[in-house]
Amino acid sequence: MDKHTPLPTSLPAWLKLSIHQSKIERLHMRDLFAEDPERFQRFSVEACGLLLDYSKNRIVPETMELLLDLAQQVELPCWIERMFSGSHINNTEDRAALHVALRHGGEDALPEGDNDVMPAVRRVLGKMDQLTEAVESGAWRGHTGKRIRTIINIGIGGSDLGPALVVEALERFHHEGMQAHFVSNLDSSQLDLALAQSDPESTLFLIISKSFTTQETMCNAASAQSWLIQHLGDPAAVSSHFLAVTSKPELAMKFGIGRESIFEMWDWVGGRYSLWSAVGLSIALMVGMKRFRELLAGAHEMDVHFRTAPLAQNLPVILGLLGIWYRNFFSASSHAILPYDYALRTLPQWAEQVEMESNGKRVTRNGETVDYATCPVIWGASGNNGQHAFFQLLHQGTDLIPADFLAAIRCQEAWPGHEAALIANALAQSRSLMAGRTDEEMREALQESGLAGEALEAMLPFREYPGNQPSNTILYERLNPRVLGTILALYEHKVFVQGVCWGINSFDQWGVELGKQVAKGLLRDIQSKQPKRVRDGSTVGLMAYVKSKSRWGVK
Ligand code: F6P
Repeated sequence: MDKHTPLPTSLPAWLKLSIHQSKIERLHMRDLFAEDPERFQRFSVEACGLLLDYSKNRIVPETMELLLDLAQQVELPCWIERMFSGSHINNTEDRAALHVALRHGGEDALPEGDNDVMPAVRRVLGKMDQLTEAVESGAWRGHTGKRIRTIINIGIGGSDLGPALVVEALERFHHEGMQAHFVSNLDSSQLDLALAQSDPESTLFLIISKSFTTQETMCNAASAQSWLIQHLGDPAAVSSHFLAVTSKPELAMKFGIGRESIFEMWDWVGGRYSLWSAVGLSIALMVGMKRFRELLAGAHEMDVHFRTAPLAQNLPVILGLLGIWYRNFFSASSHAILPYDYALRTLPQWAEQVEMESNGKRVTRNGETVDYATCPVIWGASGNNGQHAFFQLLHQGTDLIPADFLAAIRCQEAWPGHEAALIANALAQSRSLMAGRTDEEMREALQESGLAGEALEAMLPFREYPGNQPSNTILYERLNPRVLGTILALYEHKVFVQGVCWGINSFDQWGVELGKQVAKGLLRDIQSKQPKRVRDGSTVGLMAYVKSKSRWGVK
């Protein structure tokens, strides 16, 4: 998009979609299914080991045609090419967004300006091979000669959520005798819990920070370093127990980590897109490089699909456009992610960052304020647990909330009776949200339960299920590293599709800076008797209250 690129709201497809929406908004999906026996075949696609059924959406064939027209009019194919060819699509930071290079594999080049990034990617993968091999074989040992058994990943945001999700999701593949902890929070209770379960002699700390300045990470890293030195009684122990992954090696060295223990990261990878790099060291150490490469291969398969499949059969494009349909034409303000696969229980938290930090923006890439909604609130939890908690609101609340159901056909560990029941619940929920129950059906059900007359009529409004709640269902055979890679890359690219439609830069995150700066000043003042800055009454009152009860000394 250059200076002259129009806002999407002025594009012919956008205007047509508005008119189209007013024509179909009252249609009920129940009727659409009754009228079209081919609806599932028409609105489902199988690719990269995933089946996407998007037939339970408030769409007719014309809707998809118009959404695909919109994709063409915002020049999505061109933007996809720009991303894959390393052009500086992150314009506010003048950087490429080349996370696809991290899983590119093969011998081909991938340019970033005049530079082929692949030699550096291969070099770091090679270094990861060496490290994991050394830890697995026992060639790398702790300072006192004990083998490494515990990995503590210290990082936050993209330096935490992606690796933590993957390590958790691939628990079935963990090396025996190894454990991993993830420490992100400034609240030292989290670090304390991890340390309490770790033996300093056999613990390896991974300090993951692209900037190596993030307050939470630096604070946790410093405390972990003191803990280690205190227990092993020798500052030299740090070199056998600390590794860093960063794009600022000089800062990691200043912290006390040797150059050879630093894994490179690059400006052209955004933190939330970085689990595929050495940021995923914890994954590689827990499941081995073979599995790590399978994860990369799955993501690469999705990359190739995204780059080459026609838009109408392109999974990230379909998911992205449907999201635009609800956000901009039905004013849906949130989107739920509901995994029916225990291994993916923290997928929603990972997706929160990928989607909201990428597309939670109010100006276009040219700095114009948008006159349309952008990223909805992304939320969710394990679907099966959610049924007994928040699904009430999906079934009978007042908001339209589109949802993604993700389900494995085969569980990781299948005990008799569980597998079929779990998938039956997933399908039952998406079916119920779509179809609801007509008055007629409800009457019959109440009559069968013995109700009649006034009592039945009085009960009816409470038992009403309007339905027409849209959802996508993503099915896969069984979760493994490769499938996981395809799912995560699917969401990454969906986010890009939406960013392009909204005309925004999905790869910066200026919104998080203000809070960081304010926290720095506030930290100084909350520890001092004479605060330097003038603040609002609420903050002043809260600071005074905290000081009166705090344990730290006020100077
Ligand atoms: O503050 C937000 C953020 O910059 C995220 O984008 C990033 O994933 C996280 O903080 C951690 O950053 P770093 O890896 O530089 O410590």
